[in-house]
Amino acid sequence: MLISTDVDRAVAALRGGGLVGLPTETVYGLGANATDEQAVRRIFEVKGRPTDHPLIVHLGPDADLDGWITPRFDHRDAAQRLAEVVWPGPLTMIMPAGPRVLPIVTGGRATVGIRRPAHPIAIEVLDRFGGGVAAPSANLFGRVSPTTAQHVIHDLGDRLDIRRDVILDGGASAVGVESTIVDLASPEIQVLRHGAITNNEIAAIVSQPIAPTGGPSRASGMLASHYAPHAEVRIAATAAAAERLATRSQAEGKRTQVLDYSDDLLAGARHLYADFRRADREHLDALIVVEPPAIGIGFALRDRLVKAANGSTRSNRVG
Ligand code: TXA
Ligand code: MG
Repeated sequence: MLISTDVDRAVAALRGGGLVGLPTETVYGLGANATDEQAVRRIFEVKGRPTDHPLIVHLGPDADLDGWITPRFDHRDAAQRLAEVVWPGPLTMIMPAGPRVLPIVTGGRATVGIRRPAHPIAIEVLDRFGGGVAAPSANLFGRVSPTTAQHVIHDLGDRLDIRRDVILDGGASAVGVESTIVDLASPEIQVLRHGAITNNEIAAIVSQPIAPTGGPSRASGMLASHYAPHAEVRIAATAAAAERLATRSQAEGKRTQVLDYSDDLLAGARHLYADFRRADREHLDALIVVEPPAIGIGFALRDRLVKAANGSTRSNRVG
């Protein structure tokens, strides 16, 4: 069985150069020993991911940052504050890379993304392993991130090696969308990817304004179309507009469903990717999603929905 709840097996897999499907509070990762070049290389092969898309290095709550980052940089104090307040948690910090970071992990960049995840099983694995675990989300490149071990099996099961890899089952991810990524290695602090930790929260923690998110993304891997189900995704401004669109779509013979997360954004984030995957399983032609409000994790939801709309066959933002 590739799926297991045995943390020892996962730690042994990391030590032996294997890959681990790692449950985290955001989404499942596909992890390897960050200092094992061959193992990290396999992550890219298994995912079908271009090697210029950098990986995040995951560390246990008490693991030393020494060697993973360079100790002195302009936003060091801000990084320290964020680490104190948010870690372990759904925040990735981009910082100048230290000597332990292999070029394969960062695509040769001078910076590295570091995160200390909060999921108890991830913490146990990282604590016992002791080193850094390089991990992207455990999905095929360009597809929706997995939020359960079953999603990982579905995407990567037949590409993994039962003799040396393992997928740890830690239940459904509690947050459901990928970590917030904040860039602390540039002149201005900037959020590169929205997640559960909002721009306002970050600005409050670091006691300074942060540059607005957006513009041409500087992080490769944050393509405009990403996170897409096979169904056409359309965003409607209101529930009424969504119903009108759905009626029209059904009249065109499309199997259509309306998704509305507005009442409970946290639950929406938890369910979004599973809903996308269900839509694929049920061979739906169209998903009409009511635009979530721009508050809290709503920013992350809006971002993923726009990307899903761009990634689906016929993109449309209407009403
Ligand atoms: O919640 C998450 O962040 C999950 C869990 C497993 O930790 N991981 C995740 O990894 O979403 P991934 O590889 O799917 O997305 C990481 C993003 C990519 O878009 C990558 O380009 C960006 O982070 N990234 C990583 N290192 C970077 C760096 N040094 N500079 C700029 N962007 C970076
Ligand atoms: Mg990903």
